[in-house]
Amino acid sequence: MSQRTLVLLKPDAVRRGLIGEIVGRIESKADWRIAALELRTLDRPTLEQHYAEHEGRPFYEPLMEFMASGPSVVMLVEGERVIEGVRTLAGPTDPIAATPGSIRGDFGTIVRENLIHASDSEESAERETKIFFPGFA
Ligand code: PPS
Repeated sequence: MSQRTLVLLKPDAVRRGLIGEIVGRIESKADWRIAALELRTLDRPTLEQHYAEHEGRPFYEPLMEFMASGPSVVMLVEGERVIEGVRTLAGPTDPIAATPGSIRGDFGTIVRENLIHASDSEESAERETKIFFPGFA
């Protein structure tokens, strides 16, 4: 089942020089391809749309500040079961709980600075694609 997902390499991943490492893991998977990729500093209106469902939660403001703190890599990845697949590569939200071998498990410690975002469902992928790449929606 071919799908498309929206992936962000967060400002910590870019600052730490991990773009090549993370994009390489994604590109290595059979049948997956990068359909769009851009380095972009995310502005507040874009982040408000993206994280709308989390507004009011204790981590919301620090997360917004962190996500606007430097450039992110914004990309669309296509391929076989890519929505579940990229989330498996990423590992769970808390990097300390993430298995070594996953991106967060290998490189993360702090929950807020967990390196990568990937859409969690077909509905989210569609919504997030419209936010970040309206031309593809
Ligand atoms: S939930 O309850 O399942 O919807 O939450 P979750 O998917 O785990 O997290 C939603 C996004 O918020 C980020 N997050 C945090 N950021 C900073 N500090 C804390 N404590 C924290 N907890 C969760 C988490 O990384 C998710 O962001 P994205 O960009 O989707 O990865």
